[in-house]
Amino acid sequence: MDLSVQKDKLPVHVGFIMDGNGRWAKKRGLPRSLGHKEGAAVFKKIADYCLDLGIKYITFYAFSTENWKRPADEVNAIMDLFDAYLDDVGKYAAKKTRIVFLGDKAPFRKSIRDKMIDIENKTRDFDAMTLMLAMNYGGRDDIVRAAKKAVQLASEGYLKPEDITEDMFSKLLYTEGMPDVDLVIRPSGEYRLSNFLIWQCAYAEYYFSDVLWPDFKTADLDKALEEYASRNRRFGGV
Ligand code: IPE
Ligand code: IPE
Ligand code: MG
Repeated sequence: MDLSVQKDKLPVHVGFIMDGNGRWAKKRGLPRSLGHKEGAAVFKKIADYCLDLGIKYITFYAFSTENWKRPADEVNAIMDLFDAYLDDVGKYAAKKTRIVFLGDKAPFRKSIRDKMIDIENKTRDFDAMTLMLAMNYGGRDDIVRAAKKAVQLASEGYLKPEDITEDMFSKLLYTEGMPDVDLVIRPSGEYRLSNFLIWQCAYAEYYFSDVLWPDFKTADLDKALEEYASRNRRFGGV
């Protein structure tokens, strides 16, 4: 770890859009599922590196609300990976990392859902780092769900229109209590958010790279952090 970025210039919350697994496999004549497997290994390496660097919040986009429309065999392969990965997650608990899942758990198979709930419960009080896994996550779904909660509270008499502020509304999102995203990293040469944390990224900095996610190295993260440290964030001021 020889990162030249000063600690106070590190982002508090980094979001990773793990894209390019399929193209990585295709380039090698492998099935797309092997690209996802390699991508999952890279995810673990990068999450560990973030903990070493002292980054407090990291979010990985693992599966979007739109990804269900992929062919059934690919979706199944991804679900099998989730099932296997969630068994392995105990080592993060040992590192005192809190793990939170963003997205509706209902559409997942029971074995996955049970593990997600168990992991969230077991790591709830850990604070070395918070690792969020966006699984069946969509930014629009997040906002619509929050709006439904607000309407529900209002209909029960707990909420008036004037009570709704940006802060209050943020607390109804899946990321309840987490800081906004400071830096979004998207590899694979695509320049879009693809429905990732659209509310939470309102003032994020963006770092795009042509590297495919399974090829993403700690040195690529160093580069993104160095670039982030040199940016001038104004938040609408001067
Ligand atoms: C990202 O890799 C993983 C998921 C969306 C689940 P892709 O599967 O989108 O890889 P490409 O974009 O087809 O290369
Ligand atoms: C975004 O990647 C979702 C995840 C990385 C989980 P996609 O591959 O689904 O995004 P698009 O289709 O290129 O926008
Ligand atoms: Mg993709």
